Amino acid sequence: MALKTINPTTTEAWKKLQAHFETVKDLQVKDLFKADAERANKFTLKQGEFYYDYSKNRITDETISLLISLAKEVGFEEAVEKYFTGDHINQTEDRAVLHTALRADKNAEILVYGVNVVPEVFEVREKIKGFSEKVISGELKGYTGKAFTDVVNIGIGGSDLGPAMVTQALQYYKNQLNVHFVSNVDGDHVHETIATLDPETTLFVIVSKTFTTQETLSNATTIKNWFLKHATQEDVAKHFVAVSTNLEKIAEFGIADDNVFPMWDWVGGRFSLWSAVGLSISLAVGYNNYEALLDGAKEMDDHFRTAKAEENVPLILGLLTVWYNNFFGAESEAIIPYTQYLARFSAYLQQGIMESNGKGVDRAGNPVDYQTGTIIWGEPGTNSQHAFFQLIHQGTKVIPTDFIGFINSLHEDKDHHDKLMANFFAQTEALLNGKTKEQVVAEFEAKGVSKDEYESLVNFKMFTGNRPTTTILGDKLSPKSLGNLIALYEHRIFVQGLVWNIFSYDQWGVELGKQLASGILKDITSGEISEHDSSTVNLLKIYKG
Ligand code: F6P
Repeated sequence: MALKTINPTTTEAWKKLQAHFETVKDLQVKDLFKADAERANKFTLKQGEFYYDYSKNRITDETISLLISLAKEVGFEEAVEKYFTGDHINQTEDRAVLHTALRADKNAEILVYGVNVVPEVFEVREKIKGFSEKVISGELKGYTGKAFTDVVNIGIGGSDLGPAMVTQALQYYKNQLNVHFVSNVDGDHVHETIATLDPETTLFVIVSKTFTTQETLSNATTIKNWFLKHATQEDVAKHFVAVSTNLEKIAEFGIADDNVFPMWDWVGGRFSLWSAVGLSISLAVGYNNYEALLDGAKEMDDHFRTAKAEENVPLILGLLTVWYNNFFGAESEAIIPYTQYLARFSAYLQQGIMESNGKGVDRAGNPVDYQTGTIIWGEPGTNSQHAFFQLIHQGTKVIPTDFIGFINSLHEDKDHHDKLMANFFAQTEALLNGKTKEQVVAEFEAKGVSKDEYESLVNFKMFTGNRPTTTILGDKLSPKSLGNLIALYEHRIFVQGLVWNIFSYDQWGVELGKQLASGILKDITSGEISEHDSSTVNLLKIYKG
């Protein structure tokens, strides 16, 4: 049974939220703090490795209660069970959505087409473990008998972003293997990477769920051709492994059966780092750390599935997105990690969130008449403060922002970490309180600046404040806490897609460009330009010289 089709704007809760919005939209959150000494405690949840303080959002008790009613009215509880138990909630592809099965307990039973998939998942996990250990220890060797020093992950989208983000995030836990990522079909990407590699000591992991993706197959072919200039066809078996559902295409590429790590159609690309797609993570940080990442995600899964609505972190944070997107008209959300290790976190979530919820047709197949998917962006703090924070502080848009930080740094440089975290706390405080005219004037006067001199500057130096932030504060960045964090955003995606009445787990919107590119490639290589709009024809002529 698929998810229910309920237009959220027709629910009782939505109507009440509309009326409620009119009464709270101009409230100053700083006044709400003054009026309620318990506000911070009330709107902070501790779950797994993190505190989640959402008290600096433009909400009251009633907002949360109405948002929860909205979730209930669109069938949240029933939908979560469908999500975790393998119902085909990816209806347009007729597939289950079971990335959660990849981190389930060994004794769990999760049925897909009547078959428990958990044993298969653990078989593949064992294979990842054994293979990673052999590569890391040097037991597995390249074609000239040398241990591997480098690993290249060849994939794109979900077959690249997750492993690349996590490998960078867990760099502190890394072993001696250098792990590279080649994704772009831009030849400069692959050739720059090859230039640093020694074919005798490099292992290539081709990751493609479909094994038909142009970028990945082109890069894999270029790399194989380069490899064959140094080694023989037989040696390919020692240096190339593949992760895919498409066993036929893998065989065509010449990869040995033993070197194939299967995955399943019930794992979406952007949620696949928990499957063998995460092989390069396990190679980079060792299987135990990889397993701790999965355990961290499972902890969040259990919480999401069982917690009361008022204490359910992904539910509440997911609903806050709906609140801002559909009532305040916010178009984007910033995600700002205060750790350089999470430099790719926002890029990773751009695919997760925007490929999932960037949909304009509802579950009944009709165009929606309300806003869906938010635009996601972000860079690590403090770099982002010196780049785009101006717009978050004084621009004209509402930009709900997640601040992610840790109490302890990994290199234990307290001086640096205290400075970093002082910025972390200062930013959310500044966004909350802003700076009033009186404060600006008082600052000028304290410096002895005359009224004539400062008067024309006052408006520029004021900050309206009341800019919503959520603080996500953990003890330290570890495989487990990272697992918590990624799964949190995965479940937020589910909550939002459910409320917006869209299908979050397909991605038809990426097809048209791919389709046209294959026709245009023929135009470029054949000498004949087929029929296009005149702009495209002109541009192709210029390109072809
Ligand atoms: O860009 C679309 C997409 O299908 C993503 O959803 C996916 O992660 C990516 O392409 C890569 O696909 P594959 O793993 O099949 O090569």
